[in-house]
Amino acid sequence: MEKRSSFSGKIGFVLAAAGSAVGLGNIWRFPYLAAEYGGGIFLIIYIILVVTFGFTLMTTEIALGRKTGLSAVRAYHALNKKYAFVGYITSFIPLIIASYYCVIGGWVIKYLASYIGGGGTAMAQDGYFEGFIGGASEPVLFQFIFVAVCMIILFLGVKRGVEQANKILMPLLVVLSLAVAIYSMTLPGALEGVKYFLLPDFSHFSFMTVLAALGQMFYSMSLAMAIMITYGSYLKKDISIERSVKQIEVFDTGIAILAGLMIIPAVFAFSNGDMSQLNSGPGLMFITIPKVFESMGMGTWIGIAFFVLVLFAALTSAISLIEAVTSIVIDKFHMTRKKALALVGIVTFALGIPSAMAFGLLGDFSIIGFSVLDFMDFISNNALMPFVALMTCIFAVYGVGLNAITEEVALTGKFKQERMYRVMMRYIAPVFLVVILIGYVLSGLGVFKI
Ligand code: PHE
Repeated sequence: MEKRSSFSGKIGFVLAAAGSAVGLGNIWRFPYLAAEYGGGIFLIIYIILVVTFGFTLMTTEIALGRKTGLSAVRAYHALNKKYAFVGYITSFIPLIIASYYCVIGGWVIKYLASYIGGGGTAMAQDGYFEGFIGGASEPVLFQFIFVAVCMIILFLGVKRGVEQANKILMPLLVVLSLAVAIYSMTLPGALEGVKYFLLPDFSHFSFMTVLAALGQMFYSMSLAMAIMITYGSYLKKDISIERSVKQIEVFDTGIAILAGLMIIPAVFAFSNGDMSQLNSGPGLMFITIPKVFESMGMGTWIGIAFFVLVLFAALTSAISLIEAVTSIVIDKFHMTRKKALALVGIVTFALGIPSAMAFGLLGDFSIIGFSVLDFMDFISNNALMPFVALMTCIFAVYGVGLNAITEEVALTGKFKQERMYRVMMRYIAPVFLVVILIGYVLSGLGVFKI
């Protein structure tokens, strides 16, 4: 049995958890959802969800992990056998996410390669992105390269090294994003975009705004996915869970907002009044960012720097996804780490191929109106994750007992938000999640349109 190593200190834990949390979710996914689902109203709902639900669930997961010292599947089983099935569902989600995450990771590599090859101007032209994802082989090729890079890092055991590198690269990402965001906001016509993104307009509110913000909150904070339980199992007893969670939240949300400020005002500036681009979905960052860099003049250098930094952020998140699945495979099937890794790598790649082809060979194919990639994304974040979150609440309240969790949190001193935590876990979170899930099913059945 492997001995559990622990993080060297507070900052080690926060950075590792932030490394998993900060990734494409913040830079690629958040801005397109905010653009599509109402701008300011999406932002405010998102922030409210982060400080209430996100806080509660992340605290629960980390405390459960630290209490048991086990990875998710075993943690659920060890605490209460009846809930072992939650552990299994939880582990299924990172596999689905990893599959299409690596597709987007591949897009990042493609863009980096094109910048290195001096293609900055070509990338700023309308239609470049569509041409790339519409191709038959390129998206799969780059998806393969991204998976391969993850596997090499994991096989060589240099994951630690990559996380260390991230300690330097993440602050750089913040600085560069800040500079680009300021530039974007000062483009002619961009102010309308700043307003759209920051000021809530209730006429844009819909059920979908809440559903999308909730899914994004789970995704961005790496929740309902077995990951924070595992990270918690490595956390030393003398580090405050409550403070760590707050720091991760600030970091994760801060980067998402910066990314929004880089991209959304630029959409307004470059669209000549044609707002349909706000609905570009997964392509938004890839369509808008090259235009911003091109207009800055030093497109090639900024493009290379930006995509290198995004690539690192994506790698640490993808690695944490693949690791989570691998540790479950090892626990469950008693395989060696190498074999389990190889298996998970192959399955991740194979499962992601349809997503990579979603806009090319499978372009005409849709599932309940979604492209394959959007479908994988939607089903995991908006259906499976709320379900697992609901189960986690029930498990925490009835399977383990909230006292056991609050005691774990209070090991390092008073749990300041304990009251809020208890009310959220017992009443608000479960009711809200049930409403969301019912709404989701009804809309899926066509009872109302979301
Ligand atoms: N939170 C990561 C991001 O924002 C994605 C991720 C989800 C990573 C789940 C690990 C687990 O990109």
